Amino acid sequence: MDTLAAQHAGRLMLETDAAFGVREVPLVLPKPAVPVPGKYVARKEENAFPGGQGAYRPATSVPRDPKMTAAPPLEALSPAAAKPSRPTANRQGVDIPRSVKLPPIPEGRLDALEPISDADKPRLLAELQQETVTALAPYISDIATRVVFGSGDPAAKLMFVGEGPGIEEDKTGVPFVGRSGQLLDKMIIAMGLSRQTVYVGNVVKLRAAEADPDSGRLRDRPPTPAEVALNIPWLHKQIEIIRPRVIVTLGAPALKYLTGTAEGISLLRGTWMTYRGVPLMPTYHPSFLLRAYTPENRAKVWGDLQQVMAKLGLKSPAQK
Ligand code: URA
Repeated sequence: MDTLAAQHAGRLMLETDAAFGVREVPLVLPKPAVPVPGKYVARKEENAFPGGQGAYRPATSVPRDPKMTAAPPLEALSPAAAKPSRPTANRQGVDIPRSVKLPPIPEGRLDALEPISDADKPRLLAELQQETVTALAPYISDIATRVVFGSGDPAAKLMFVGEGPGIEEDKTGVPFVGRSGQLLDKMIIAMGLSRQTVYVGNVVKLRAAEADPDSGRLRDRPPTPAEVALNIPWLHKQIEIIRPRVIVTLGAPALKYLTGTAEGISLLRGTWMTYRGVPLMPTYHPSFLLRAYTPENRAKVWGDLQQVMAKLGLKSPAQK
């Protein structure tokens, strides 16, 4: 790292810790998302094409027409990708119809449902997890190797909802454990909470990925509407059991699919909305924050979280 970059990194660390009110948690600095073409040989697990071909060397293994600018077809990158033996996560949109109608957000307020005691929630959630795993089993592949159901306190007062698992989450089965997860941890700690006292879930439970047209490496991608339609009923059921007092949506997809809004995240973040009578605070996704790591954006997110804390009657560690 040169001197300027080191200075920048140091400043970033101080600013982040100040914005989120935490100083003791080590900061994971943003790294460039895309490797320098031709210089990088990806790790085997980052290139787990169906069929598990191992390390893929972008510049040499794909014969390319010099005039070709569009992405090479998947089968050119890996023959195994062309004919998977079973449905794969990046083909969910092919295996189920592309033009799907999203299932409607269930009607009725959560507080009007038959009450569930906090003591029953772990069992009910474990049963739902089993059902979800069974229902999504046909879509398990070399890309989405497991269902990433959710984690935390089944009786949590606060629930975070993100978009869907990435490679790290797929490896561990736990949502938000990669770089954006580390930033989410800091946000939660800054609120005086922990991953054990909140619940963290996603709109989709299976990793969605595609081949990067330039490098050929697998990269995570937003879920297709068909994938959301397949997955979201399980999120609705999850929320029905947890019955949080507040939901925080992280990023545009979670906001869109839990509220049905067509408005963008930039307009709505920081504004209270509701999900079946539950106050819902939209904020930026931590991965967006990592990409646009400005003091303004961090202050916006911290402001959104402070509104959530006020709603829950929480004081940040610094105020205690
Ligand atoms: N991004 C998400 O939206 N969810 C995860 O679990 C990880 C990254």
